[in-house]
Amino acid sequence: MAFAPRHFVRAASSDAATAAAKKLLIKHVTIIGGGLMGAGIAQVAAASGHTVVLVDQSDEILKKSTKGIEESLKRVIKKKFADKPEAGAEFIKKTLKNLTTSTDAASVVHSTDLVIEAIVENLEVKNKLFKTLDKFAPEHTIFASNTSSLQITKMANATTRQDRFGGLHFFNPVPMMKLVEVIKTPMTSQKTFESLVDFSKAVGKSPVSCKDTPGFIVNRLLVPYMMEAVRLFERGDASKEDIDVAMKLGAGYPMGPFELLDYVGLDTSKYIIDGWHSLEPNNPLFAPSPLLNKLVEEKKLGKKTGEGFYKYK
Ligand code: NAI
Repeated sequence: MAFAPRHFVRAASSDAATAAAKKLLIKHVTIIGGGLMGAGIAQVAAASGHTVVLVDQSDEILKKSTKGIEESLKRVIKKKFADKPEAGAEFIKKTLKNLTTSTDAASVVHSTDLVIEAIVENLEVKNKLFKTLDKFAPEHTIFASNTSSLQITKMANATTRQDRFGGLHFFNPVPMMKLVEVIKTPMTSQKTFESLVDFSKAVGKSPVSCKDTPGFIVNRLLVPYMMEAVRLFERGDASKEDIDVAMKLGAGYPMGPFELLDYVGLDTSKYIIDGWHSLEPNNPLFAPSPLLNKLVEEKKLGKKTGEGFYKYK
């Protein structure tokens, strides 16, 4: 920048100012799906002063989501307001005041600035939802998906607002994990992209940007790495225990690849790799693993079923 001609610097900063002026300030957010991810996103959005409506299929599910949010907020204040319990209680009260729930997405999106979808990882179901909401949401509303493995472009194409559509990929557990990947399709407008970046910052996260490519940044690097660990083990080159120890002590990773696979769920990893393999069958990084497939067939899905690569009591 030190060597940039003055006129360029001026033009660049005035361009930035124009783009900033056009950005949408997101105040009202509708989150569809009150599961693991949707509840976490609702929590951080409400805690940062946004008006949030959390939508799911039944009141029972939503009760469970709200209870989970309350429990999580209690954990947050233990750390954040350790010496000020009254301020902590006030923080929880304010956060919950910002949050309402509904079982009817179409009836609540009329005044929303941003819809974040965090429902089941199924393109047809997601497209059906977006197509419906497209009819009910105002013109200015931005749509975003929290998908881990599906193409954002395909969802945007189910709507008439391709320029106001992007990806907002949060990480689990949402209140703890600082990263959000903001995904820009070829149709996402700069204004939409910048509004999503600003929203991510407003909820206390550090956004990074990526094109609509399989796995975005984190999973694109992480999933092939875990699959290569499985192949190393399958070939008998090293034991899974030694591979885990090696990556923790030699690379400084907090978990080894097999511990991580068990934590994520072997079915989830298989689903992701199978999807990518069907998109790029000749890419060796996306090759399926017979061992992973066998474990999934045997319902050994990792920590959640008590057994995956390791056994859990
Ligand atoms: P989950 O199974 O915990 O929650 C999904 C929720 O969506 C359920 O409560 C379900 O009742 C609800 N739902 C399903 N269809 C619906 C519909 N048509 N309308 C309203 N609600 C509906 O799933 P999870 O783990 O929260 O994942 C959600 C999305 O986030 C998926 O796309 C997943 O790929 C993505 N994701 C998941 C991560 C994870 O670690 N679990 C990490 C990052 C992204």
